[in-house]
Amino acid sequence: MSEKRVSFGGRMGVLLVAAGSAVGLGNIWRFPCELGQNGGGAFLLIYFICAIVIGMPIMLAEFSLGRMGQSNVVGALKNVSGSNKYKWIGYSGVLCAFLIMGFYGVVCGWTLEYVYQAVVFGFSSMTPTDLSTAFTAFSVQPVRPILWTILFLSINCAVVLLGVKNGIERSSKILMPMLLIIIIILGCRSLTLPGGMDGLKFLFKPDFSKVTSEVVLNAMGQAFFSLSLGMGCMTTYGSYIGKDINLGESVVQVTVLDSLVSLLAAIAIFPAVFSLGINPSAGPELAFITLPNVFNQIPGGYIWAILFFVLLSIAALTSTISLLEVITAFMSEEWKLSRKKAAIIGTATIISIAAFASLSLGDLSDWKIFGMSFFDLLDNVTARIIMPLTGLAISLFVAWKIEQTRLKDEITNQGTKKAAYFKAFVFILRYITPLAIIIVFINQLLSWF
Ligand code: PFF
Repeated sequence: MSEKRVSFGGRMGVLLVAAGSAVGLGNIWRFPCELGQNGGGAFLLIYFICAIVIGMPIMLAEFSLGRMGQSNVVGALKNVSGSNKYKWIGYSGVLCAFLIMGFYGVVCGWTLEYVYQAVVFGFSSMTPTDLSTAFTAFSVQPVRPILWTILFLSINCAVVLLGVKNGIERSSKILMPMLLIIIIILGCRSLTLPGGMDGLKFLFKPDFSKVTSEVVLNAMGQAFFSLSLGMGCMTTYGSYIGKDINLGESVVQVTVLDSLVSLLAAIAIFPAVFSLGINPSAGPELAFITLPNVFNQIPGGYIWAILFFVLLSIAALTSTISLLEVITAFMSEEWKLSRKKAAIIGTATIISIAAFASLSLGDLSDWKIFGMSFFDLLDNVTARIIMPLTGLAISLFVAWKIEQTRLKDEITNQGTKKAAYFKAFVFILRYITPLAIIIVFINQLLSWF
């Protein structure tokens, strides 16, 4: 355990760094895509229930575990339990970080291509069909998307090497509010497009006949993914949180902010989808096709497009930093590598996985695993299986294996902060969260037979 472990600067620092991890492509790219493919309004409602009932308690559990263990996710489990028995939970988290980065890194590369497109060509002369064709033509190319991915992941590696505290904390303070403002402006324009109200109906009128166990599993997976849970990210970040920070308060703030951004992204995207006659279940390309169409309808669209894609890249970066930090902290602390070596080896491994993921959308598209491309497999296996199961293991560990007085001391900062919710939190973590995750899984298994 290191005595001099760096800590984020104050409440605002913690909020911004944790929200920086949570708010990313998962909100603006993945959430609308999941929503469109899972029937709209009902998914939205189930998603929020999952975020509150499953997500918030697990985030608090992860923060507490990390701050108590003062180490990476594997080390924290070892330090807190005093044994090696639970280290596998941490390993599963680290593996998950690699797999997520494998497909997430590809989409990060796309964001850079779109920054470039926005600056050099603008989207103004393109019709919705042109935009859709251009996106497909780009994403199936063998080399170009991979080069963007390599560039993005190299920047990511450089920032992690510079240290999370200064670079990320400082930039997040300006960039996150800017991203919010832009999404609100886009939302306003999208809503006022002709036919845009149908998009709102799709979003807010839940059609429960569309709800299957698959939809619930997807909503739960999205909650884990969006809140960066179930893989040790918030545990690793928890180890950098100062002992004076109110963990419960931070959890609420991060969850509210993250959900708000997802909701705003959906409000910016779906009215435009309906107005332009795009298929709402279009898939991963949704944000990349729909939003440029909205820019085309706003005065100054050229500038908005650039700003949006720059900020989207930055939102993605603050998330990939947290993912690489899980890997770097693990390799440097457990394998005694220097941080530099750890970050570089981690990045090189991620690039290799990402190259296959990118190719699986183009030249290797005939290569299917369980009927899915490698790209989709990485996304589905992490969000729907590894994150919920690792999250389940972490909550069981925190709720059952840590003495309650010790856990309470951690959450109340040695009794200096109030945590009237503590009993409810332990109860939820012991019974409700595990039950909810298990029921969703069993239901899903049954639906296969
Ligand atoms: N929460 C991020 C997003 O919504 O884009 C993605 C992510 C980051 C997932 C960190 C998991 C993680 F540990």
